[in-house]
Amino acid sequence: MRLRPKPASTVRTAPTAPQYPPRTGGGTAAADAAVELRAVRRTYGRGDSTVHALRGIDLALPRGSFTAVMGPSGSGKSTFLQCAAGLDKPTAGSVLLGGTDITGLSENKLTQLRRSRIGFIFQSFNLLPSLTVQQNVLLPQRLAGGRPDRRRAAGLLAQVGLEGYGRRRPGQLSGGQQQRVAIARALVTAPEVVFADEPTGALDTNTAREVLGLLRHAVDRLGVTVVMVTHDPVAASFADRVLFLADGAFAGRLERPDPTEIADHMVALTTAGTDRAARIARAAA
Ligand SMILES: Nc1ncnc2c1ncn2[C@@H]1O[C@H](COP(=O)(O)OP(=O)(O)O)[C@@H](O)[C@H]1O
Ligand SMILES: [Mg+2]
Repeated sequence: MRLRPKPASTVRTAPTAPQYPPRTGGGTAAADAAVELRAVRRTYGRGDSTVHALRGIDLALPRGSFTAVMGPSGSGKSTFLQCAAGLDKPTAGSVLLGGTDITGLSENKLTQLRRSRIGFIFQSFNLLPSLTVQQNVLLPQRLAGGRPDRRRAAGLLAQVGLEGYGRRRPGQLSGGQQQRVAIARALVTAPEVVFADEPTGALDTNTAREVLGLLRHAVDRLGVTVVMVTHDPVAASFADRVLFLADGAFAGRLERPDPTEIADHMVALTTAGTDRAARIARAAA
């Protein structure tokens, strides 16, 4: 069974479509990596109460690839995304973005890099309600100190099926439309990587598919690299590969999987976790 739908019919390539770096193919060599994690560890707290959120993650994601990250609650998904996106610093190890080691950067340099080279998409859209749609899309350019490029914003809005919506406010749009604005905003600086945290978590099934189709389109047609945390096997099936986290470490990967395979793997992981928890509880009793 394949549930990989065609891109949403709303996807159009506008004549003013912005240019993205060309794809460099599906090579997995680290030199080609958009994102690389080397022996990344993240612990919280110390002593007896130390939590090992990430236990040594090694990973290289090729440019122009779409990766989904799944795992039981508490497995380290959010910590992984935050470390990979430079929002949190690993306790040990390093993170490279387009070959730049970001682990040692000052907070200022890191902020600059995040604004210009990384796009973010959140479950709750995070649009600014007082700004128009166009102003929201242009915000990352303004924050990065660039000149706002209205033609580019209009081109991106057309690509996500929102031609002519630039003057509206987010509050006048449906959830799916707001997330499409957020996608345009994430792409406006032509970032090397877009990180998405449960981007369809607040959307109904059909709207979720449209949004996932747009992310797929950004990868296939614009050469963007997307890393998406999700708990939804159907959402994950839009990705090229699914990486599974359990207890702060990778616990398997599936290439071009279908939702059934993904769901089976998740059930196995969750059951393994429950069994382990039961063993620990018995040993402690
Ligand atoms: N700020 C924090 N302080 C202490 N422990 C944390 C913090 N953030 C996350 N953790 C712990 O780290 C582990 C991984 O959390 P998280 O990355 O949020 O997992 P997930 O997103 O997969 O649910 C969990 O055990 C969680 O309780
Ligand atoms: Mg989380």
